[in-house]
Formats: sequence, structure tokens, C-alpha cells
Amino acid sequence: MSAGLPEELHDLKSWTPDPTELADLELLLAGAFRPLAGFLGSLDTAAVVAGGRLADGTPWPSPVLLAAPEGLAGERRLILSDPEGVPLAVLEVDEAWRDPSLPEGRVRLAGPLTQLRRPAYGAFHGLRRTPAELEIAPGREGRLLAVATREPLHRKQLGQVRQAAEKLGAPVLVLALLSGSHEQELVRALLAVRKDLPDGSQIVPVNLATRTGGRESELRAHVAAAYGATHLLAVQEDRSEAGILRAASGARGSSSGFTPVPLDGDVPLSVVVPEPWAYDADVEVWRPVARIEAGHARAELSPEELGELLDQGAPIPEWFTPPAVAVELRRARPPRHERGVTVFFTGLSGSGKSTVARGLADALVENGGRTVSLLDGDVVRQMLSSGLTFSKADRDLNIRRIGFVASEITRHGGLAICAPIAPYAATRAEVRRMVETVGDFVLVHVATPLEECERRDRKGLYAKARAGLIPEFTGISDPYETPADADLVLDTTGLSTEEAVGSVLKLLTAGGWVR
Ligand code: ADX
Repeated sequence: MSAGLPEELHDLKSWTPDPTELADLELLLAGAFRPLAGFLGSLDTAAVVAGGRLADGTPWPSPVLLAAPEGLAGERRLILSDPEGVPLAVLEVDEAWRDPSLPEGRVRLAGPLTQLRRPAYGAFHGLRRTPAELEIAPGREGRLLAVATREPLHRKQLGQVRQAAEKLGAPVLVLALLSGSHEQELVRALLAVRKDLPDGSQIVPVNLATRTGGRESELRAHVAAAYGATHLLAVQEDRSEAGILRAASGARGSSSGFTPVPLDGDVPLSVVVPEPWAYDADVEVWRPVARIEAGHARAELSPEELGELLDQGAPIPEWFTPPAVAVELRRARPPRHERGVTVFFTGLSGSGKSTVARGLADALVENGGRTVSLLDGDVVRQMLSSGLTFSKADRDLNIRRIGFVASEITRHGGLAICAPIAPYAATRAEVRRMVETVGDFVLVHVATPLEECERRDRKGLYAKARAGLIPEFTGISDPYETPADADLVLDTTGLSTEEAVGSVLKLLTAGGWVR
């Protein structure tokens, strides 16, 4: 065990990368991104983006990048720490480069890494392995078949995996790709089917963050190869929308469908495309479609069908997936009326947010069946955010704090009602993302016009703001960015509180969150 930071590192500055970068750091240090030894510089990045190769021609599918504040651009060496401030690695900064996709004030840092200690692993750390630690014994001719997935394996995929493994004479390495949401459910769902995999198979959780900009299939192939796989079974979740175990479990569609994905880049192993399988209802088994009598093959549940069953709390049929997997699906995506949800009101001061939010909280409490927490703007400002001003930075911090608390409430299956002004779209989007990794998010724009808010002026603040006594007042001397993603728009002009609360309740009932 390492005892403190070595003396010569005491003077180095430290930086905590974001969760995606930390996941990449972990894979870099583990050797799972072989041949990469560190974060990419500008030349390699340009070459990877343009042609799926590093500057020296080595195939590599996807940029692996680190962003940091400009102020760190001059450092020769930098400590990278986890969110608790524990040093993980030293970065030798070869290059600090300006990436146009980054906001002002941020730079890319590139260079090789030296590990200080292993990242403090989360749940199931006992299952984690670096490529060097894998204990799997290869099969015929040194073969090892990998399956890399962010979704559980249902009966169809289990059949396909067994068939491919048998044909190759290879054991199976299941790489459980962790995406930051419902990781435990994924790992447990895969452990639950271990007995359905060939003897000697192993399940290893891998922190491969999802990334925008595609080429994920190729990246999976590279990681699988780093783990010693000679073959990769190309079952992959349908990429059209988030899967059952990934984010956005709510209003937006979801998918658990597996479709073979053609890999377009150079990959360092053989890709095995599985034969199509279906359920033979006559004999109640899954088998290759070719062996099923015409007209008797039944397809897997579509992602929409599965999502619908889960949302309603209906049983998941055993012909589709083993009961132990169904348990995990249900944990990850509980029926709507039990699922955590955040109802986020946004709008000008005096628009009626607080009144409607309070009325909604009361109505839900009277109705029963839901645990409700109200995070009103003014109340939060007295408690959670006391001392903050109304500068953009402080407003953002205020909204992030509200979002953090709301997402914890949501994670625990509660119903959080938030009612701050939340004038900035980007910050609202951040809260939505945070909440949607653990439950559902409903945005209500209380769109009472400024004139009406100002006419009401219950607290006399608009008069003061007009007189220049309150600087940066939303709607007067500070912007309000109208939401484009509201689930409900409410103008409370001429609307009674009952009517306004009624329309929100109607939305929540129609969505299944409230019965
Ligand atoms: S937010 O912008 O950070 O979302 P929040 O909802 O917490 O604002 O606080 C808004 C409340 O603070 C208003 O209802 C009003 O009573 C009070 N307030 C005081 N100064 C300002 C200001 N400059 N702009 C807006 N609201 C203000």
C-alpha cells in the first residue's frame, strides 16, 4: 500500500478529471487501451478523427482526451486525482493544445501517465481485472471469445454466445461495460447468467465510458483485444436510443435490442457475427432461425415492448429472459408509479412557480403513495445555498446543488419538486442529465409573461430592480433563456392555483408517475 505522496511530487499541482476522463484514465493505466500510454495530443487526435489511426499509422478508433483549465497549460507534470482528491497518476505534459470544441478557458493536456495508485473501485471491485490479471484459460488454438455489452444477455443472446463459443472451442470473456448508470444491475444480471455460459467463462466489469461521436464498436474491439480476446461476438445493443440500463429511462424511448454491428475500422481481432436466432414457440426453445419451421419463429421482445412491460410493472415473460435477469431489469427500470422522478419548475420571479409547486406537493401528499420533497427557490437560498449571490456563476452553482439533491431523491425512488428561476438552459440541461441517469425528469415552464409578474410584484423586487437597486435581476437586467424542452408550459395569468396544479397532476398521471 502506498504511504502518502512521494516527496518529489509534493509541489505538483493537482487536477480532477471529469467522470469520462477518469474512466479513460483507469483504462489507460490498466493497459486496456493498449497501445495508448496516455491522453492524445493534437496530431494523434486529428489523425484518429480523420482516419481512425494514430499519427504513426497505428489503428485507433476514438479520441481519448483530457481537458483542464488554461491555467494548468504551463505545468510540466501534473497530478491527476479522483473526485475525493486522492492522487491517481502523474501526467507528463508533452503538449497543451487548444481544441476548438472546448469552451473558452480550457485546454487539452496530452502525455504519458505514471500510476500512483489504483483508482478506488466502486461496487463489484472484487471482479475487476486489468488485462494482466485475467485468469481465464484460453481454449482451442489459444482462442478467447469476448462479448462486450452494456445490456444484460437474454435467452437469445445466451444461445448465440454458446453457439459461437462451441464452434470456436473458446471460453467466453464477458466485458460488462459500465456507463455510470445502473452498473450494479448490469453486473448482477450478467452474473445471474454465468451458469448459462460455457465452463471457464469470466465476467469482468470495465469502465468504458460511452462517448459521443461513435466508433464505440471499434473501441470495444480494441479493449477486448487488450484483454487477450481473439474473437469478439458482434452482438450489440441497438444504438438508436438509450438501453434499459442506460440513462433516460423515462419519457424518451429505450431499447434493449441487440443487432449485429458491422465494424468499419481496423480491429485487432476477428469479429464474429452471430447467426440469427428466434424463439420456437412449438417446442419452447430458442434456436437458430434456420432450424425453425417457417411461420413458427417468434422474435425477441422489441425494446419498446420490454420498456412498456417494465413501465407498467407487468411480468417479464420467462421465454424472453431468465427471471433473475428480469429482477435486475425491474430494479433498473421500476414501474413508473414507483420510479423516482424530479418535477422541475422554471420561470421568472413572480410567475407562480412556488405557489404551483407547493400546491402540487400538497396534492401529492394528500393523494398518498409518493414521498415528496419540495425544493423551493427561496427556501433553498436560505438553506442549501445561503451566501450565494445572483451572479451567473452563483446561480449555476445554486441550480447544480438543487440538481444534486433532486437526483439523490430520485435515485431513492422519491418525487422531488424543484422551483428555482433556473434561467440558464445549459444548467437546466445538466440537471436533466444528472437526474435521468437515476430516474425521470419532467420540466414545467411557468411561462407567465414578464408584464404579469411585474404587475403582481408580490415582493416589491421588480420595482426595486427597475429603480436600479437590485442589479442582475432576471427579466429586467439579467437574461431568462426560454426552455425548448419543457414537458408542460403554464401561463398562470388568469389561472387559479387549483387549475394550474391540476394540469401538472394530469401530466404526472398520464405519464404513470402518479396513480
Ligand atoms: S436562480 O436564478 O438561482 O434560479 P432562485 O430561484 O434561487 O434564482 O432565487 C430567486 C429569488 O430570489 C426570486 O424569487 C427573488 O425573490 C429573489 N431575488 C433576489 N435577487 C434576485 C435577482 N437579482 N434576480 C432574480 N431573483 C432575485
